[in-house]
Amino acid sequence: MVPRDGVAVIHRVGPIEKDQIKGLARRVARQKGREPLGERLRLDLERPGSDRFTGVLWNEHGDDTLTAYCQLHRDPAAWVIETLIDPEQPAGPDGPGPPLLDAAIREIRRQGGGEVSYRLPAPTAAEESVALQAGFTPSREIHQLRVALPLSEAVIDSSPRVPVRSFRPGTDDAEWLTVNNRAFAGHPEQGNWDLDLLRERQAQPWFDPDGLLVHEEEGRMAASCWTKVHGTGDSALGEIYVISVDPDFQGRGLGRALTVAGLEHLRAQGLRTGMLYVDRSNTTARHLYASLGFSPDHVDRFYSIHVPRGDGLTPSGPIA
Ligand SMILES: CC(C)(COP(=O)(O)OP(=O)(O)OC[C@H]1O[C@@H](n2cnc3c(N)ncnc32)[C@H](O)[C@@H]1OP(=O)(O)O)[C@@H](O)C(=O)NCCC(=O)NCCS
Repeated sequence: MVPRDGVAVIHRVGPIEKDQIKGLARRVARQKGREPLGERLRLDLERPGSDRFTGVLWNEHGDDTLTAYCQLHRDPAAWVIETLIDPEQPAGPDGPGPPLLDAAIREIRRQGGGEVSYRLPAPTAAEESVALQAGFTPSREIHQLRVALPLSEAVIDSSPRVPVRSFRPGTDDAEWLTVNNRAFAGHPEQGNWDLDLLRERQAQPWFDPDGLLVHEEEGRMAASCWTKVHGTGDSALGEIYVISVDPDFQGRGLGRALTVAGLEHLRAQGLRTGMLYVDRSNTTARHLYASLGFSPDHVDRFYSIHVPRGDGLTPSGPIA
């Protein structure tokens, strides 16, 4: 299955393509039981002028229904890509995956190459084999953890309590960015935020300054816990979206105190399930979350490859 006809590479999303992509995303979401595209890719789709966006659309039948789709997001350090395959197509090496990835890699090479990080949310073995056969190597595992709310009394009683206040948009932006970037130094998605990125998140419909808890010590921001509510009703999830403790204040119980405060805030809003994502390699955070009662729900995997400007591909990055 080689996608010669019906493949389009786009750098701006028009309303027709957006409908087609969202239609495919909905079909994949129904099949998998979760939203397929990561946050940065979803936001790129909503910003028609994003200069970080490239889409590879494969429309086998020439109608409104996409057979497969690969979205590319260009960050200064690396490309992030994700694929959507129509649930009626084979997900493995005999389906649209290999030629779609091939078309995406050719486009990345055309745009100058670089490190590529391929996100596979809760992948099946067949989906992983497509990445491996294309020369990608496993590079990261992100665990989604969940906990029932309210937390047990034993957990709450054994956790320190510290004063917190709501985030003040505008006033707190610069200080929050400093603490975030110091806490996440070197982290691929979280370590290099700027004001534009923060303001983009603050402009999202889910943003609530009361759900971003700030703790101050010695006259400065020492830690914060940013919560985000997904969905409504019984299936709603209350996420610990970003938690960061300034390195000057780490190891003193603030991470535990702020995580518990964030979960208490979510519980007070009626949430019955807390959720967060953590890198497999982040042993401190994983230890903390396990001690609060979090357990794994599923694992998202990242595969990497280095695409040079010319010919040839180099697998990159051992698994963390
Ligand atoms: C992860 C983080 C929030 C933890 O906050 P913290 O204030 O440093 O942690 P705490 O002092 O509350 O300690 C929490 C637990 O981790 C343990 N811990 C703390 N530092 C540790 C370290 N360097 N190595 C191993 N365990 C450690 C503590 O012993 C404690 O365990 P306990 O509750 O069983 O005693 C903080 O280190 C941080 O901001 N890290 C960078 C950003 C990040 O990784 N955020 C989480 C992303 S999911």
